[in-house]
Amino acid sequence: MMNLRTTLCLLALAAAAVAVAQPIDPAKLNTMIEALTRLGPEAVNANPKLKEALGKVLAATRGTPQFVQLVEQFKLADQNAGLLEVSAKHPADEAGVTALRLVLASNGTAALSAALTGKDVSAATKLVEALGNTGAKQLPALLLPLVSDTTRDAALRKQSVRALARTQDGAAALLKLAREDKLPADLRFTATAELNAVRWPELKAEAAKLLPLPPGQGDKALPPVAELLAMKGDAKRGAEVFSRETVGCAKCHIVNGQGVDFGPALSEIGSKLPKDALLESILDPSAGISFGFEAWSVETKVGEEFFGLIVSETGEDVSVKTVGGAVTKVKKAELARRQQSKLSIMPAGLQQTITVQELADLLEYLATLKKK
Ligand code: HEC
Repeated sequence: MMNLRTTLCLLALAAAAVAVAQPIDPAKLNTMIEALTRLGPEAVNANPKLKEALGKVLAATRGTPQFVQLVEQFKLADQNAGLLEVSAKHPADEAGVTALRLVLASNGTAALSAALTGKDVSAATKLVEALGNTGAKQLPALLLPLVSDTTRDAALRKQSVRALARTQDGAAALLKLAREDKLPADLRFTATAELNAVRWPELKAEAAKLLPLPPGQGDKALPPVAELLAMKGDAKRGAEVFSRETVGCAKCHIVNGQGVDFGPALSEIGSKLPKDALLESILDPSAGISFGFEAWSVETKVGEEFFGLIVSETGEDVSVKTVGGAVTKVKKAELARRQQSKLSIMPAGLQQTITVQELADLLEYLATLKKK
């Protein structure tokens, strides 16, 4: 075993050899960490040279699980920025979750809040995921404002719903929003899927009443969303379901030149949306209406009614494309009323025309429609 003197010398040497910003070679780094660990937090914090060495080791391990270990081991304060970095990188790993716990334990809520509301939306989304994995009591206070702020990124807000549903308080808070009719429409599907699968029986029962899962064929309940997404689908049979007359997808969507050009083309939809979002598009079309595909109802003074997409507009007239693809030009002088609908033109409930297996097949098919 090395004595204290040797360790000190070794550290002093190692510390002198490397400037803060320069990479330390891995073998040397490990020797330094080992020596510091052997000395323990008290000795290191009492000695400026050793503290300096620790600073260098921290800089060299920044962004890695080792960094989190060091912060925990040496009880270091003021490392929130570095901890949040690891957490955003590894939201589902022990290191990332521990990092976030350390932030919360060191009164780092303000730093975390700033990261959640900051410009880096993808880092914020990862942090929300990590936060869900901590099960922390601060979840509702941190995440409910995001859920309600419809100006923020949709994926970030959906992740917030998923994280909230991981704790009893969070799930109860989401249910309260639903009960008071304050749950934003674009999060309804995610909240429905999550809350119907929580492990607290009372909350689950209330979710089934307030936010029932959409029914499947013959009004039978669909399996939980996680189960649906885990089912194996057959893309070939899915293609057949897509173009089946009674289901009607092809009456509104083009895939590789086939079908009617009414809703968005789906030839590359598998590159745009992950499976859970594809399922949401089918089970709750109004949750996230694609830009430019908002539905309008247009009435003329002589009593004609059109419900469809406004595909062009000039000073004199508006052109409405109705289901089937026909475009009608209406003179503005003859217009009585036009109103944007909150609902998608894509009808809800199409899953009721198919079996659960066919729904899985359809999802598989859509997921295979990728950019070439
Ligand atoms: C009556 C017309 C209509 C039918 C029938 C229809 N859709 Fe749609 N679909 C739309 C419209 C319009 C949109 C865009 C508005 C929106 O996002 O709600 C859309 C959006 C979508 C989206 C999201 C596209 C994107 O780019 O985000 C998917 C996926 C989709 N539909 C799949 C289907 C499938 C699968 C079926 C059959 C089960 C189907 N649709 C049936 C009209 C239709």
